[in-house]
Amino acid sequence: MQNSSLQILFLGDIVSKLGRQGVKRFLHDHRDSYDLVIANCENTSGGKGISKNHAMDLKETGIDVFTSGNHIWRKKDIIPHLEEYSVLRPLNYPPGTPGYGSKVLTLEDGTTIGVINIMGRIFMGNPTDCPFRSIETEIQRIKEKTSLIFVDFHAETTSEKKAMGFFLDGKVSCMVGTHTHIQTHDSQILPKGTGYITDAGMCGAYQSVLGVKSEIIIDTYLTQRPALFEIETKGPTIVSYVHVDIDIESAKTTYIRGDYALYED
Ligand SMILES: [Fe+2]
Ligand SMILES: [Fe+2]
Repeated sequence: MQNSSLQILFLGDIVSKLGRQGVKRFLHDHRDSYDLVIANCENTSGGKGISKNHAMDLKETGIDVFTSGNHIWRKKDIIPHLEEYSVLRPLNYPPGTPGYGSKVLTLEDGTTIGVINIMGRIFMGNPTDCPFRSIETEIQRIKEKTSLIFVDFHAETTSEKKAMGFFLDGKVSCMVGTHTHIQTHDSQILPKGTGYITDAGMCGAYQSVLGVKSEIIIDTYLTQRPALFEIETKGPTIVSYVHVDIDIESAKTTYIRGDYALYED
């Protein structure tokens, strides 16, 4: 029988080994509470990109779809296998870019949901197509199959994300932001029923600067010279996530909350 609501777990950017271990532990304990698990994987392998092996390994823990971002191109071996392991890359790259920016899934109970990954243009490096115009076209395409749509908007600035949230309100079921690695305390339901949070945060080293060893980042600020970023491998692990309930009939969010688990050892 089809459920009346969908319980969705979204995991923030998985950063390297601590992130992978934390996510595995979290899913071991909580996977059964959710109908769908989506995770941003752009920092999974060595902090940049996701390798084919790590995608395979994490998929087995119960992640249904991976979203990503600007770092997705850093591990080359995943590129021919993006579709095979349900790894999305941002939708608004130029035509001809490998992979897909969206996926429509049919869950165990027969419910169909579309997941879209799209990237902002402010302070994000190489310019991409307009995320607002691109996503509008993609939503129309997906709506022919399902009215349930979940969006990961990978962007730097809070203003671009908030604007996208209101732009999508009533058009999609939920939008979560990613990329900044710090969870924002603003999970909310927008006026027309779209669930929203500016950033989901990250899964990785708790005592770090966005996953990187703090002393290296402090040094780059003090010296104004570039340095090789080394991922923090010690200390507690944070698993930042967003729990979303979507009413299947109305396709609206009925509950959204950003939260985290902290593993001390
Ligand atoms: Fe990231
Ligand atoms: Fe990013």
